[in-house]
Amino acid sequence: MADYKSFIQQVKQANDIVDVIGSYIELRQRGSNYQARCPFHGEKTPSFNVNRSMQIFKCFGCGESGDVITFVEKFESCSTWEAVEILARRANIPMPETPQQREDKQFSQRKKQRELHLEICRETAVFYFKNYRSAVGAKARSYFEGRGFSVDTAKKFGIGYSPDSYSLPQHLKSLGFDEEECIKAGVIQRTSKGKVIDALGRRLIVPIFNMQGKVIAFGGRALDEQDLNYGKYKNTSDTPLFTKKNNLFNLNIAKEQKQQSALKHLVVVEGYMDVIAMYQAGFKTAVASMGTSLTVEQARWLSRLSDTVYICYDGDAAGQKATVRGLDILDEAGLEVKVMSIPNNQDPDEYIKAHGSDAFLKLIEQAMPLPDYKIQLLDKAFDIASPDPTVRNNAMPKYVKGAITMLKQLDETRQRQYITVLSAKTGYSQDYFLRKIAEKSTDTQTDELPSTGIASSPETKAKFFVASCLLHSQDYASLDEKPRCDTLFLSNLYNYLFECKLKGEKPLVDMLYTVCPNGTADEYSQIINVDFSPKRYQKNVQYFEECKRVILVEELQKQKNQILAQIKKDPTNAELLQKLAEISAKITSI
Ligand code: UTP
Ligand code: MN
Repeated sequence: MADYKSFIQQVKQANDIVDVIGSYIELRQRGSNYQARCPFHGEKTPSFNVNRSMQIFKCFGCGESGDVITFVEKFESCSTWEAVEILARRANIPMPETPQQREDKQFSQRKKQRELHLEICRETAVFYFKNYRSAVGAKARSYFEGRGFSVDTAKKFGIGYSPDSYSLPQHLKSLGFDEEECIKAGVIQRTSKGKVIDALGRRLIVPIFNMQGKVIAFGGRALDEQDLNYGKYKNTSDTPLFTKKNNLFNLNIAKEQKQQSALKHLVVVEGYMDVIAMYQAGFKTAVASMGTSLTVEQARWLSRLSDTVYICYDGDAAGQKATVRGLDILDEAGLEVKVMSIPNNQDPDEYIKAHGSDAFLKLIEQAMPLPDYKIQLLDKAFDIASPDPTVRNNAMPKYVKGAITMLKQLDETRQRQYITVLSAKTGYSQDYFLRKIAEKSTDTQTDELPSTGIASSPETKAKFFVASCLLHSQDYASLDEKPRCDTLFLSNLYNYLFECKLKGEKPLVDMLYTVCPNGTADEYSQIINVDFSPKRYQKNVQYFEECKRVILVEELQKQKNQILAQIKKDPTNAELLQKLAEISAKITSI
């Protein structure tokens, strides 16, 4: 840590804050300060100040403040470590290797490969783009333009076309790329017969860019009936550069918009075409989750862009369990979640076409806070207002249980607010709700709420696996700190495991039923039924490391959110900013 701190100092000294900020936005000198219109909130008169002697910036309008690193982090929507990297590059200071990188012998090889894959993706995008705009692309152009998209929109998104399955492999070969690397980059595939083909042959191509504006993958929409049978959309499969569930489509343009003027509404939609339609209608900061449920990683991207996200899913998709779990993930990452609903099961593209952008803006403005949305789901699932008393009586306990699960996820202020609402609605006393949410037991966390059942998250799964390895005294299993546990079962088990560790004793598998007396069959099974046979050894070692990482990232993320909340109240506290920088660097170095 010590050398890391002095490195940061060195980078800061080599990057004068006035020079750096002045290279991004226009600064005017006024007395000892430099001023500008704040890049972090929309304003007409400049309240953004930069001070050279103190090397800090502060906006008296929105309260943003910090040092040169914080500025780059916010302006580039990147992590602290990436900001340090940008500044180090600017000053020609070589980056030190993180401890992980030093231990990782393949690090430099992987870095080279990553650059090669980026190059392959870039060339592939250029190939598709040229095809779209040439004679062979007529069909794709008429499809895209037929959906109401303009030529400018097509250009902005780099829309392309793959004419067939053999041209791309040939083209990449002619550029001298290694076939195996092109396969690893996901752009071409080997068939079972050993032929290499374009992974997205005969489709309209939507390139997917990362936040730095580099192409990392593609989505392809079928144009023919025949291809539709193989999926309306196909994506580049998971590669070292791209995993669908950890990326979002259009992050690059959302970031670009944020740099031009304060970002108003960051909207998460499901599909590529929704993003593109919204862009054309003036809502340029929509991103698409590409049809998967939201992940912790995606929450991280989003929180770099905004504090608030609007979720705008097709009518039938919202309300499904996986979706609501995704919304909880965003909430847990410290984002304020607002849920939009579009009438008649339309998607944003269809809605905008039918009703225009003003109507869509109204939908954004009418978006519901997450707890209200969950109450609405309960209203739909359990009819406590039914005229039939049997239906009513049957529904009520389930409704209340679901409400308690929802309440438990709120902070105290919001809890109080929603208890008042729910008590009035159900006739259960406020005291009853208060007592129930104070109970530590997990028995209210059943599937009653169609939304928030504890559909096992990756973090929870990781905690079970790690606990099982520890309990079975596997030689690779060690854990420095007790993870946060949100179920009684796991917290009892980890208490026992850490007690043993403290005493230097081996845990006893048979103690499981004593230390966790009230577990469910599934909980016991996740601990007992892990395959520890020798043939699984290597896999288990690997998976254990992966799980440890997941647990550590969750913990650091929670700490980071707490610090962020403190910083909101006390934005110039240097100690907090320092802590934030350290935690962010840790997270990115894992
Ligand atoms: P939708 O089926 O809602 O498609 O899938 P869409 O966006 O409305 O498509 P259009 O308007 O008919 O062209 C939403 C998203 O789910 C993923 C894609 O990312 C898509 O944009 N998806 C969908 C797939 O990956 N494969 C599919 O077969 C379908
Ligand atoms: Mn659509």
